[in-house]
Amino acid sequence: MPSSSSSSSSSNFLLSFLFALTASNCAAKNVSSSSSSPRQLSVDYYAKTCPQLELLVGSITSQQFKEAPVSGPATIRLFFHDCFVEGCDASILISTTPGSKVLAEKDAEDNQDLRAEGFQTVSKAKALVESRCPGVVSCADILAIAARDYVHLAGGPYYPVKKGRRDGKISMASRVPYNIPRANFTIDQQLKLFNSKGLALQDLVVLSGAHTFGFAHCKQFVSRLYTFRGTNQPDPDMDPRLLKSLRMSCPQLGGNSDIVAPFDVTTPFLFDHAYYGNLEAKLGLLASDQALFSDPRTKPLVLQLGKDKQKFFQAFSAAMEKMGSIGVETGTRQGEKRRESNMQT
Ligand code: HEM
Repeated sequence: MPSSSSSSSSSNFLLSFLFALTASNCAAKNVSSSSSSPRQLSVDYYAKTCPQLELLVGSITSQQFKEAPVSGPATIRLFFHDCFVEGCDASILISTTPGSKVLAEKDAEDNQDLRAEGFQTVSKAKALVESRCPGVVSCADILAIAARDYVHLAGGPYYPVKKGRRDGKISMASRVPYNIPRANFTIDQQLKLFNSKGLALQDLVVLSGAHTFGFAHCKQFVSRLYTFRGTNQPDPDMDPRLLKSLRMSCPQLGGNSDIVAPFDVTTPFLFDHAYYGNLEAKLGLLASDQALFSDPRTKPLVLQLGKDKQKFFQAFSAAMEKMGSIGVETGTRQGEKRRESNMQT
């Protein structure tokens, strides 16, 4: 009969075997995170080591976009949720180790509605990239490139993506709740969170423009339809026609929890600047969206972006570069990671 120590060493063996099997995909703690020196991101980071990288990722994103256009919003949101928790280090992609009590980020409550298509995009792209440039490209960079590809495929701007991110090893569900904004957040709350990531008021308004496509579940806005902020009334800042149609899909009680509504009623799959015009017309879906129009600090920019698509596209490209750099350019975060390197999922 095997002793407890031999059974634990055989389970260790099994775990290392499983890890070896999955190390080339993004659900495992990735090998490219081993170096601890600070890094500068650059557009030509892989120019020598994987020159065809963007073409490889592009072949996956264009195919996925044809087969399932929801892959676009899914991947951009995935990138946002990755960057806001532990920085842009692909920690959102790590799976909880079977049997572990510590849940990984992706299993946090706030990440339950991240669509599978975003994860699938990165996993397919990573497999292709690994087959051509083994052990070179981080999952975090692949996610950043894929997000940009989808913005462009859906009609938005094409911007160069700086690369050189490391993949993180720490992924904890407990870090998620206070780092991801909620649908009922006021501007003060949204601003506080964005500021804590080094993002300014303008970035908040501009990045929220990603809600120009994609969908939200009823639970994210149902209180606006019936009992807004503790009243027994709907949100007065919602157009009555939108209110009526959303109420049909989302009853106050007993609705189907899978039902979603488009952020942009007119062009739900197009990346354009309609989001801002919608806010002006009281057609924002989440309270956090509509608040951008009611708050005097953010309203002037909402009005400007609603009038000027090019301005939005330029500002969005710049803001995505800023968001894509969270936690990757300074040495501080590496120190933090080393301190906690025993805290793995
Ligand atoms: C500013 C504060 C923000 C709040 C409160 C917020 C909240 C939400 C919520 C509640 C959903 C719906 C989730 C669901 O029901 O499935 C959602 C979806 C989405 N968010 Fe945000 N978000 C914010 C900022 C951002 C940013 C900065 C980005 C990207 C740059 C982003 C991209 C998206 C996209 C593309 C979707 C649609 C996802 C899909 O259809 O699969 N959001 N967001």
